[in-house]
Amino acid sequence: MTKIKQERKFVIVTIDGPAGAGKSSVAKALAKRLKFSYLDTGAMYRALTLKAVREKINLKDEGALVRLAKKTKIDLKDDSQKGLVILLDGKDVSEEIRSEQVTNNTFYIARTPGVRGVMVEWQRRIGQQRSVVVEGRDIGTVVFPHATYKFYLDADFEERAKRRINELKAKGAQINDTAVKIDLKERDTKDSTRKVGPLKKADDAILIDSTNFSVDEVVEKILGHIKQFSTVNHSS
Ligand code: DC
Repeated sequence: MTKIKQERKFVIVTIDGPAGAGKSSVAKALAKRLKFSYLDTGAMYRALTLKAVREKINLKDEGALVRLAKKTKIDLKDDSQKGLVILLDGKDVSEEIRSEQVTNNTFYIARTPGVRGVMVEWQRRIGQQRSVVVEGRDIGTVVFPHATYKFYLDADFEERAKRRINELKAKGAQINDTAVKIDLKERDTKDSTRKVGPLKKADDAILIDSTNFSVDEVVEKILGHIKQFSTVNHSS
C-alpha cells in the first residue's frame, strides 16, 4: 500500500477487478461513506463505444477510434435523484451504455492504445480535482500507480456469473444462463490478455474476495483497511 504523500492534495482509492466482482456497488457505497466522488471508468469506455457504434465507425480502425476519442466529451455527474449520470457530449446515456450491444463491443475500444491514452488522461485530470473512489481494470497499475489506497476485488467465476444473470433478469432481459457464462469468460480473457492496460492486480493492492460477502460487508472490510493504514501513515 502506498503511503500518503505529503504533497498529495486529494485521496485516491482504486478498486480493480473482473466483471461481476461487485466493483460498482462497492465503489459507489464506499464513495458515499467517505464522502468522495465516484469514478466509474468502465462507463467511459462504454460511452465511447456507444458513440462509435452510433456513428458506424469501423471498430477495427484504430486511427478512427483515437480521432473519435479526441473529439468526444464524456462527463460523469453525481445526481442526487439518479445517482451517477453519464453524459456523452452533454447527453445522458446512462441507460444506453448498459446495452448488450455496447457491452459486447467495448473490447475494441478498450484494446486500442491511443484510446486508452486519452481515457487515462481524463481520469488523471479528475483525480487532480477531488478525492475519489475509482473503479476499473488498470486503475491501480496504470492510471494511479501512486494511489493512496489500492484494492483488487475478485470473486469465484460461478458467483460472478450468478450476479450477472440476476442483474440481467432484474432488468427483464430474456437470457440464456450458459450464454451469459460464455460471454463473461470471454470478457475475462479479453480484459486480462490485452497488451495495454490489462486487468491485473497491482503488487501493492489488497486482494478482497467478495464471493461470500455482501456489498456492505466488503465496504466495511475496505474501510477497515483504510483506517488501519491511515493510522500507520499518520504516525510515521
Ligand atoms: O466495468 P465495465 O464492465 O463497465 O467495463 C466495460 C468495459 O470497459 C470492460 O469490458 C473493460 C473495459 N474497461 C477497461 O478496459 N479499463 C477500465 N479501466 C475500465 C473498463
